[in-house]
Amino acid sequence: MVKKRVLSGMQTTGRLHLGNLLGALNIWVGMQDEYDCYYFAADWHALASNYEQTEELSGNLLDLGVNWLSAGLDPEKSVLFVQSLIPEHAVLHLLFSMITPIPWLERVPSYKEKLEQVANKDLHTYGFLGYPVLQAADIVIYKADYVPVGIDQLPHLELAREIVRRFHDIYGARVFVEPQGKMSEVPKLPGLDGRKMSKSYSNAIYLSDTREEMTRKIKKIVTDPARVRKTDPGDPEKCVAFNFHKIFSSPEQNLETEKECRSASRGCVDCKTMLAKNVLHKIGPILDRRAYWSGRNQEVYDILKEGSIKARKVAKDTLEEAEEAMKFNFSKLIPGVR
Ligand code: TRP
Repeated sequence: MVKKRVLSGMQTTGRLHLGNLLGALNIWVGMQDEYDCYYFAADWHALASNYEQTEELSGNLLDLGVNWLSAGLDPEKSVLFVQSLIPEHAVLHLLFSMITPIPWLERVPSYKEKLEQVANKDLHTYGFLGYPVLQAADIVIYKADYVPVGIDQLPHLELAREIVRRFHDIYGARVFVEPQGKMSEVPKLPGLDGRKMSKSYSNAIYLSDTREEMTRKIKKIVTDPARVRKTDPGDPEKCVAFNFHKIFSSPEQNLETEKECRSASRGCVDCKTMLAKNVLHKIGPILDRRAYWSGRNQEVYDILKEGSIKARKVAKDTLEEAEEAMKFNFSKLIPGVR
């Protein structure tokens, strides 16, 4: 039986935190056996909003590779690659840009929101408007069936399908596969202060934090604000730490925690000490693998190189098919250049 193909990308915009681990990485890892998986570092996408600060992007790529391997992505099972090493993505993006109506891009919700929200950068660029066209090219050049992403990305997948249909209509050949989003029910991990875990809120626990730093941060997690003294009864439903417990502690522990919080027989400090132990126990194997991979830069690059070579073969074939369909196949008429 032929496995269905999965593809997803992650921007190289910064360090990964526990929210990214639970939200995306664990899902990627879990799909490796059942699907033919392609995962890539979206460094061109990172460039779209960081074109003025490019120095960090290369360090971020290495950190991303280390985190992927630490989380359990396995180069024997999945193709791990780097977007900017596969120029075919850019060529297909260009071809798609010829047939994509501008209003389709202007109405993408993330486009409008980012333009309003991000005040410190000028995102009124051609590349930023075309961000989802590049994303469509990333996906369909591998004929991916499924794309594991967060809900915020669903409009991008819808647009990818619309571009595919338009391409098929205009050129009369079915070259691409219409990709479907693959959502999974993961409990959302809040930040230390209860807001969304995010670099920009300084409320994140990073995979690169030491165990001591993680413990220190966990002890700062906000608890029920009404529980001022240890003798005050608390309400776990109003406690951010309890949200963490739900993800990292056992159901039996959580029943007990709930009881002892409501009856004020356990204090928040003890409760978070236990939580820190559970978190570190759960992600211990990842931290150990991280210690192994940190500093093995060349090996990490070599893995990305192997993956990129494999990915490029697929991308080249699809691009050729697309150009053939468009009767725009000069690379076939004049071979040996590309
Ligand atoms: N836009 C995605 C994000 O911000 C990253 C991305 C780029 C992507 N290309 C992709 C995700 C292709 C899935 C498929 O998370």
